[in-house]
Amino acid sequence: MFERRPLIAGNWKMNLSIKDAVALIDGIAAGINDIEGVDVLVAPPFTTIASIRKAIGNSKIFLAAQNMHNEMSGAFTGEVSGRMIQEAGCTHVILGHSERRALFHETSQVIDLKVKAAAVLGLIPIVCIGETLEERESGKTFDVIRQQLDESLMNFIVDQLMLPSTILAYEPVWAIGTGKTATPDQAQEVHGFIRNWIEKTFKTGTANQVRILYGGSVKADNIAELMAKPDIDGALVGGASLKAESFVPIIRF
Ligand code: PGA
Repeated sequence: MFERRPLIAGNWKMNLSIKDAVALIDGIAAGINDIEGVDVLVAPPFTTIASIRKAIGNSKIFLAAQNMHNEMSGAFTGEVSGRMIQEAGCTHVILGHSERRALFHETSQVIDLKVKAAAVLGLIPIVCIGETLEERESGKTFDVIRQQLDESLMNFIVDQLMLPSTILAYEPVWAIGTGKTATPDQAQEVHGFIRNWIEKTFKTGTANQVRILYGGSVKADNIAELMAKPDIDGALVGGASLKAESFVPIIRF
């Protein structure tokens, strides 16, 4: 079987001052310096990215932005481009987080443009998908996931090329920040569906290489059982990534 390296990613959302963020990086770096075999990533707010890049130094922590615009530059007041986040030191970018979709009206079509722009720049996209509680309860989970994949990755489908470095994150909206985690079986069911979708859509063996993260109330006490599932390759962690005491034990699962 193809070995996918586990990835534990922290999404700091709109939290932490520069000082607190740098202290957190120091705490994470100290907490992981003796372990191997797992990738670690943090996604700080735009204004702290440059300071975090410096604080990371030579420690092995990947840096992502939480969003970007699909255009490279221009009259887009309040927006930040992929080139800009790359210049600031990011190698990855989270795209289509459910908070972007729900609170900032980002459609899968817009996310698709961003995914394409990231790929052009060589930024690795972490593309988020997930159903709401209402969608799950009305039995629409797989339809919603399929549609989000079809639309958010449209450019990849048209080109018949999904870079194996692409990362997907399954985040059931009802599990984000709620303390309710999908059970490992519920998560695996959707992760398996997603991998199967990649396999059917691209027919290239990419499906075995793409990492699919689970997100939604991941904590130290539920990470191991999630990671034991065959199609769960890591986690996108919100609340528990804001303190080294809660994030490091997740990385060391
Ligand atoms: P949470 O957030 O871990 O606080 O539920 C996850 C996310 O939104 O990525």
